[in-house]
Amino acid sequence: MNDTVTPEQSSADHLTTLRHMREKAVQGGGAARIEAQHAKGKMTARERLSILMDEGSFQELGALATHNVTDFGMADKRFPGDGVITGFGRINGRRVAVYAQDFTVLGGSFSQVQAQKINKIQDLALESGIPIVGLNDSGGARVQEGVRSLAAYGEVFQRNVAASGVIPQISLIMGPCAGGAVYSPALTDFTVMVDQTSNMFLTGPEIVASVTGEQVTAEELGGAAVHAGRSGVAQFEARSEIQALELTKLLLSYLPSNTSEDAPILVSDDSPDRMAESLNTIVPQDDRQAYDMRKVLDEIFDTDSILEVHEAFAPNAIVAFARLDGRPVGIVANQPLVMSGVLDIDSSDKISRFIRICDVYSIPVITFVDCPGYLPGVEQEYNGVIRHGAKIIYAYCQATVPKISVVTRKAIGGSYVALSSKQMGSDVAYAWPSAQIAVMGPDGAARLLHGRAIKTAEDPAKAEADFVAEYREKFFNPYRAADLGQIDEVIEPRETRPRLVRALEVLQTKIATSVPKKHGLFPV
Ligand code: HXC
Repeated sequence: MNDTVTPEQSSADHLTTLRHMREKAVQGGGAARIEAQHAKGKMTARERLSILMDEGSFQELGALATHNVTDFGMADKRFPGDGVITGFGRINGRRVAVYAQDFTVLGGSFSQVQAQKINKIQDLALESGIPIVGLNDSGGARVQEGVRSLAAYGEVFQRNVAASGVIPQISLIMGPCAGGAVYSPALTDFTVMVDQTSNMFLTGPEIVASVTGEQVTAEELGGAAVHAGRSGVAQFEARSEIQALELTKLLLSYLPSNTSEDAPILVSDDSPDRMAESLNTIVPQDDRQAYDMRKVLDEIFDTDSILEVHEAFAPNAIVAFARLDGRPVGIVANQPLVMSGVLDIDSSDKISRFIRICDVYSIPVITFVDCPGYLPGVEQEYNGVIRHGAKIIYAYCQATVPKISVVTRKAIGGSYVALSSKQMGSDVAYAWPSAQIAVMGPDGAARLLHGRAIKTAEDPAKAEADFVAEYREKFFNPYRAADLGQIDEVIEPRETRPRLVRALEVLQTKIATSVPKKHGLFPV
């Protein structure tokens, strides 16, 4: 019998081995675990990647990496890939690096090998100047690896910070994300959570109950609604995993691949000269009556181009990406429908963070002002509204991207100055005829300037009303500010879109220089 192995047979064996190993990697934690994952309403890491990445574009790296830990029976629990899938590919034709934790393998728990794989892909993304998207679904530090997995988190954080302000980093939370694991998403630019199937917390419900006695479910403690609405930890809440993945693709379309590039400009079929007649009557005559700023924005920006960020958090302010004649822009706006659009701690955080994101990615900022000022109150003062409010001022002053403002109604006191006034470096400042640009409201001014005269007047109510009327006529309009050059032009609301398009066109070559320094001390 001839048992000589021919070269053909030998390479066939090699290929069989490779194919077998790859097949094993694709199976993750096995059929039962995949079924359990589906039963929870969750997709597997590979299913998620197949939706996120352009078909056939994903190139996996490290599929065969495994741990070599032997404590606690780990020698028998070795899975190719070690619970995370890493690689690169394309999203809508653009290059992107990606990692996806696989909960079917040891609960997606974070090991030293996981960290090494993620670190490699983080380095590749930063060096290639491409965005990185992380799909998180993990029980946290792999307990059997002890301090090794803790140290591994540090390696991820270090790279998150190195990449911050250079390449877009997006975190999707698609399952548990507990303990120190929450800090990598918190260090990235955007966090997207999935309603009902994801949560983020430092310590879970049991520990919370034992330490503070508070009884909460995981969803109540750190579900998507909590972080998108109350804490502001998540910028987006998706109804399903598919929506979260589609949202990520859309979000990337507004961003450049890195801070040395510009975000893609699309061809718009919405005319740049389109007038929006309805805007001429959108602001009610009675200034105690609210109107929906979203309707204003919908009329001005390219059809269906607005992507709101932090939609449910601090809804008294709106921040959003949008397109104007195909060009990506960032919108900051007050929402008169909620708390009269007042600025408070949360809206200050929301606005300032967004301005900094726009600035770092060279996305012009367009600000729509209808704001009675910063919110007065003991709770706001005790919680640092001064410190938080200062962030808006800092962010606008620091931002060198084109900045355009439109005062639609109230721009009173601090809100006038803070929200992209000429002194904050606004390149072009427009106002509608309904604008009320003043140092304070008429009632406050009456009490301050004429309090005694009003009290001693024969008819105090009439005296007050007379003063208020005079103050309104003199100061509650855009013309004083236009007279002083604080407003560049008072425009008809309907012409806002063409005005903004033209202003952006001229500002696209804006050159801004600043004095070199290590970094400023942003008020945090
Ligand atoms: C090792 C883990 C694990 C972990 C889950 N598993 N988390 N293995 N280390 N951290 C394993 C489970 O033992 C189980 O394996 C499998 O994954 C699936 O987990 P289940 O508990 O069956 O799933 P489920 O019921 O869906 O619950 C998911 C969960 C729960 C809520 C995430 O597993 C959980 O509470 N895990 C621990 C969460 C946590 O406290 N993490 C913090 C770690 S310390 P078997 O084989 O039994 O099916 C930390 C500090 C980091 O992260 C600090 C960095 C700075």
